[in-house]
This record gives sequence, C-alpha cells and structure tokens, in this order.
Amino acid sequence: MESPVRRIVVLDYGSQYTRLIARRVRELHVYSEVVPFTVSASALGEKMPAGIILSGGPCSVFEKGAPSIDPAIFGMGVPVLGICYGMQLVAQTLGGEVVAGERREYGEAELKIEHPGALFAGVPETSVVWMSHGDRVARLPPGFETVASSQNCPHAAACDAKRRIYALQFHPEVAHTRFGAKMLGNFVFGVCGCRPDWDMGAWIERTIASLRETIGGEHVVLGLSGGVDSSVAAVLLDRAIGSRLHCIFVDNGLLRKGEVEEVEAMFKGRLGLDLTVVRAADRFYSALAGIEDPEAKRKAIGREFVDVFAAEARKFGYCRFLAQGTIYPDVIESSCAAAGPSQTIKSHHNVGGLPDDLKFELVEPLRDLFKDEVRAVGRLLGMDAQLLDRQPFPGPGLGVRVLGEITGEKVRLLQEADARVQEEVRKLPDYGRIWQSFAVLLPCRSVGVMGDRRTYEYACAIRCVDSIDAMTADWTHLPYGTLAAISNRIINEVRGINRVVYDISSKPPATIEWE
Ligand code: XMP
Repeated sequence: MESPVRRIVVLDYGSQYTRLIARRVRELHVYSEVVPFTVSASALGEKMPAGIILSGGPCSVFEKGAPSIDPAIFGMGVPVLGICYGMQLVAQTLGGEVVAGERREYGEAELKIEHPGALFAGVPETSVVWMSHGDRVARLPPGFETVASSQNCPHAAACDAKRRIYALQFHPEVAHTRFGAKMLGNFVFGVCGCRPDWDMGAWIERTIASLRETIGGEHVVLGLSGGVDSSVAAVLLDRAIGSRLHCIFVDNGLLRKGEVEEVEAMFKGRLGLDLTVVRAADRFYSALAGIEDPEAKRKAIGREFVDVFAAEARKFGYCRFLAQGTIYPDVIESSCAAAGPSQTIKSHHNVGGLPDDLKFELVEPLRDLFKDEVRAVGRLLGMDAQLLDRQPFPGPGLGVRVLGEITGEKVRLLQEADARVQEEVRKLPDYGRIWQSFAVLLPCRSVGVMGDRRTYEYACAIRCVDSIDAMTADWTHLPYGTLAAISNRIINEVRGINRVVYDISSKPPATIEWE
C-alpha cells in the first residue's frame, strides 16, 4: 500500500484565515489539510502529520466553552505552530498566562527579532507583520522563550525549541506580513522536515490510478453543471475510465445565455463524452410560479433538481458509482461548521439528498483540492482556459438573480443583459482579477423615454466584486468607460430594460448574490 502523503495538519479555531494557512502551505508544495479543533491526539496521529498548525479564531480563551485542544497533542513529538488564538491556547494549556487586552490590536506592526531561531532564518531583524488580537500572552509557559516582540506585544513570537513548539501572535499567512511565507516555509521545511513534493502532475497520475482501482470495470454517472469543478472531474474520470463515464446535464432554464450549447459543444462535440442533456426549463418555471421568497425559491430549485436528476439517473441504474465535483472548501465547510455554531444565510444545494432507492456509491476525485489546484489540474489535462477561468456561478443560477417571481420571459431578459456585462468586462486587461461580474433583474419597473416615446420597463443592477474566497468581497471599481458601455448596450440592445444601476455594497454586510 502507498504510504500516506506527508502533511501539515491545520486545526481550525474559526479564523477567516484558516483555509489560507493550508493554501499557503500547499503553495510551498507541501500537502496540508484542515481539521476541526475537536480532533483527538489519537485521530490526529493516524494522519501521521509532519507538523501541526493551530489557527487563529474569533473567540477569547476566557469565554465559556471556548474552543480548546486535546493536551496530548503537545506530547505527540510532532512540531506545533500556534498562530494568534493558537498561540494563546499554547500558552494557556502549557502553563503560561493569557490576559484580556484592554483594546484590540489590529493592523500592521513592526516585529523585532530578538533571538533568531529556526522560524526566522533569512528574516530581517525588523519587518512588518499583521496583528489582529484582543487577548495577549502575559507570561510564557515553562521552557519557552520570547524570540520576537513588537511595540504593543512583548511576546509577539515565542518558542520551546527543544519540544519544537512555536507560537506567533501575528498572522504569517496574510500577505501584509512581509516575510510570512518565509516563516511558514521555515516551519514546514526547517522544523518539520517536509519536502516540496506536492505537485499536480503527480497528483493526476496517482488519482487516475486510484480511480481505476476503486471503479474497476464498473460504470459511473456524473452530474455536470457546466462549472469548473464538475467539468474537471468529468475530464479526469474520462482519462481514468473512458466510455464507462456517463454525464447528465440538467438545463434548468436558469443558466447563462448560450451555456447549454457551450457545454454540449465542449463535452459531447470536442471531448466526445457520453452526455445526456435533460431539457427541463418548463418544469422549473412551473415549480417556481408564484414564489417570491428567496429561500423558498432556492428550496424549490433544489427539490426540482433532485427530482429531475434522480429520474434521469434511474436510467443509469447499471452504474455503481455517482461522481461529484466536490472540492476541499466544501469538505472543510461541512466538517468544521459542524464543530462550531453557524447560521444558514442561504441554503446551498448540490446532488446530495438523492432518494433512497438510488444506491450509488460516491466518487469525489477532487475532494482534496482547492479551487486554484482544480484549475491547475484542468490546465494539465489540456482543458480550455476559457472554461477553467470561469467565474463561480451559483447552483440555483439566474434563479437568485431574477428577484421576486421567476418567469421564462424575465430569465431571457436577464440572460441578454448579463451577456452584455460579460462581453464588456472581458475587455478589461485585468479581467482575471475580478471574482464575479453579472447582472441582476430587479422586480420593479421605471419610466424612461426612448425616441420621444415613454417607456415603462424593468431596471437591472450590475454586480461586480473583488474577493479571495467569497467570504468577504468588495465592489469592483470598474472604469467609468466600462460602466457606460454596459449601460448603453443594455438599454439600447435589450428591449424590456430601460435603466441600469451599479451595486456598490461590500460583503459583509451585503452578500454577493442578491438572494
Ligand atoms: P453569497 O451570495 O452568499 O455568495 O455572498 C458567496 C458565493 O457563493 C456563490 N453561491 C452559490 N454557490 N450554490 C453554489 O454552488 C448556491 O446555492 C450558491 N449561492 C451563492 C455565489 O455566487 C458567490 O460566489
């Protein structure tokens, strides 16, 4: 049997940067995964980690029920790096003292290295780091020494070099920490002894071999959505098992203009996959008739999708496996969200929840990969950049962008407006840096004048955001020329829309999609 990949395991204490830590480690070509903080030392030991990182988090160690750590983890003999909340946890658990800060320290600070050690090799004596904490460590645990300080933080970095336990009050994973990547590299290579052997080419070879082993001579059915993840999963499976892969694509009538044709041309035409397109737009429109509430719409679309997909999948009863394009952030979200309190802002849906009579076994070849790694795999598999660089598109599609009740007519209006937005935004030299750009059809009409005639038509909003991971987002400062071109084209070319507005809300407090 293959030996497990050497990995750095990140314990998630709820920081918005947890995933970023794992990504940064993977950027160093070392495999890293995130697990809930509730993990026991023995469960962690089974993963044979080369190093353990404790993330930051929004709680204070003084809060009742604050996330803790199995103390046996410190006795595993595996190097540990505690970041921010992780540092406070190290201090509190190993006999130091944490005090509540009178005020939060947030932003850049100057780090002064006092005793350069393994973690700071190659880092200048003073450099900028990013702080974001309320509590701070007042007294270090026995065996620890301070290795760096900042003006407001006497123990900005500390370590017990003998036990290989390190702690940083600042965040090395964020770009504002000038030498953060260097420090993480020092931990991963210098302290944990990892080698940079996580690479996508080797991953593809390994995954294809293991897919062949798991699937054997059986058949697989896959739900294709037209998005990056399920498309890459399909191409990967095609390489592994060829014609024993059968794809189903549901046209729910809520896709972007030309999308169904593009998917058909690409997968059936160019790649020669066995693809069934289920044309179900009318079913979805009927199910949505009269529904205005966003959550009710999402649920209706989800239900309808499961029904349509299941009915089609039954025809593939000879398939033992169902493949999905689940990726690592989906896995972290469901496992770590279960460990802490979280609120449903919007209900997402995927092919989960299929009826009991469909007894497929799941195959999720991308469940260990981040989005940028999925794209890298796609590129190595020879897929079109146009498809791989596609912006995220929500499962319920234009259903959450036609506000209020959905009708086929409104969807067509929105598709036309949205196509103009895409065409104009794509002309920008930094198009690749935009996270999402789209149009939203508003549920109101307004008066206009066109060629001396009064018009009374729909208004549409343009939403364009910059983001790293969709958790937070800022509205894109689009050039006025682009905004003008979008507005002119929609108003002149799309009959039924006579007013265009630009959405200048950030997330939070707004969300990216309007519903
Ligand atoms: P919000 O609107 O919550 O969106 O700020 C965050 C990101 O998620 C996408 N999104 C979805 N993706 N199924 C998905 O697969 C969904 O139901 C869904 N709703 C929102 C959204 O486009 C943005 O990128």
